[in-house]
Amino acid sequence: MRRLVILVTLAYLATAQHQALIDYLERRLLAIEDRISLWQEQTTRYASELRELKQQMVSQLESLDKEKETLRINLDGVGTRVDRVERELDYLETHNGVQPCVDVDDKLIEQQVTLVKEKQKEKYLKFTDCNDMISSIKAMKIQKRVGGSKGIWSKDTTGKVYIFNGTSGDTISEFGTMQDLTRSLGFSLSTGLKLPSAWEGTGHVVYNNHVYYVNQAEETSVVKYDIMNKVLTDSAVFPVQDHIPVYELNPDTMIDLAVDEEGLWAIYATRQNERYISLAKMDSRSLDIEQMWETNCPRENAEVGFVICGTLYVVYNTKQPGRSRLQCVFDVNDMVTNEEAPLFYFPKRYGFHSSLKYNPQEQLLYAWDDGYQVLYKLTMKTKLEI
Ligand SMILES: *[C@@H]1O[C@H](CO)[C@@H](O)[C@H](O)[C@H]1NC(C)=O
Repeated sequence: MRRLVILVTLAYLATAQHQALIDYLERRLLAIEDRISLWQEQTTRYASELRELKQQMVSQLESLDKEKETLRINLDGVGTRVDRVERELDYLETHNGVQPCVDVDDKLIEQQVTLVKEKQKEKYLKFTDCNDMISSIKAMKIQKRVGGSKGIWSKDTTGKVYIFNGTSGDTISEFGTMQDLTRSLGFSLSTGLKLPSAWEGTGHVVYNNHVYYVNQAEETSVVKYDIMNKVLTDSAVFPVQDHIPVYELNPDTMIDLAVDEEGLWAIYATRQNERYISLAKMDSRSLDIEQMWETNCPRENAEVGFVICGTLYVVYNTKQPGRSRLQCVFDVNDMVTNEEAPLFYFPKRYGFHSSLKYNPQEQLLYAWDDGYQVLYKLTMKTKLEI
C-alpha cells in the first residue's frame, strides 16, 4: 500500500514537471511568434519605403535628363553665336584688316578747281577754344522707331526735333519737343515743313533755326532755309566737280553736312581723290567755303562720319552689316592722330547707320539705325597739346 502511494506521488510529480515544461515551451513559442510578426511588419514597411525611394529616383532622373537636354540646346545656341562672332572677326580681318591711314599731304594731284588748292594751303584758325575729343561711348538709348530704314533725326538749339524720312523728298517733319516725338504715334504729333526744293541723301543738318540741305538737281548745292520765317536764305553750288558718294556703304549721300562747336562742315568725296574722304569748313551764315582738306580716311567700307571740335571721325562697317567701329580720325589742327585716337566698336545695334549727327550742346550723337532713332552719349577727353 505504501509502495502504491509512492508510485502515485511519483507519477503526479512527473505529470506536474511535464506540464511546467510544456507551459514554458508555449510561452517561448508565443514570444518567438510575436518577434516574427514584428519582423514581418518591419520588412513590409522597408519594402514599401524602398519602392517609394525608387520612384523618387526615377522621376528625378527624368527631370535631370530634361535639364540636360535644355542645357545642350542652350550650349548649341551659344556655339552658333560664337561661330557668328568668329566669322565676323575673320571677315573683318581679311577684308578690312588694318587700313593704313596713309598721309596724303604730298599726294595732292592737280585740281581743276584752283579754289580748292588755295583753300587747302591755309592754316586753320580755330573759332572756339574747344579742345575735346571722344574717349568712348558711355551709353546708348533707343528713343523711337519711326519712318523707313534710312533717314536723319536731330535736335535744333531751339529744342525742336526734325526728321528727314528716307533719302529724298521735299518735306521734313518737325516735332515741338523730344517728348512729342516719344509720345507720337508714327508722325501724328509732327508738322510737315515743305522746303523750297528737293533734298537728297542723308547729309542734312538743322542748326540755329535753319535747315541746311543738299540738293543734287543739276549741280550739287547746299541750300539754307530759314524755319522761323519760312524763306530760302541762300543757296551755294559746292565748288568741286565729279562728286561721288562720301561713304562707300551709304551710296545716296554725296555731301554729308555736319555741325560742331566750330560751326558748319561738309564731308564729301570727288572722283579726283576717290579713295579718300575730303573735308571742308563752311561759313554757316554765307555758305562760303573757308578751307578744304584731303583727309587720310579711306572711303572704302566707310558708313558714316561726324565732326567734333574740328576733328573728323569716320565710322566703318562691313557690306553685310556687322558692328560699326570708329576707325579713322582726321584733325584739322593736327592735334589728334590715328595712333592716339580712340578706335572702338559701337554698342550692338539693329542694322546699319544711315546718319550720325553730333549735337554740340548736348554732346550726343543722333543716329538713325535701320529705322530706329538712337542716341549715343559720349565720354570726352582733352586733346593733347603738342
Ligand atoms: C518714310 O520713308 C519710308 C521709305 O523711305 C516710306 O516707306 C514711308 O512711307 C515714309 N513715311 C512717311 C510717313 O512719310
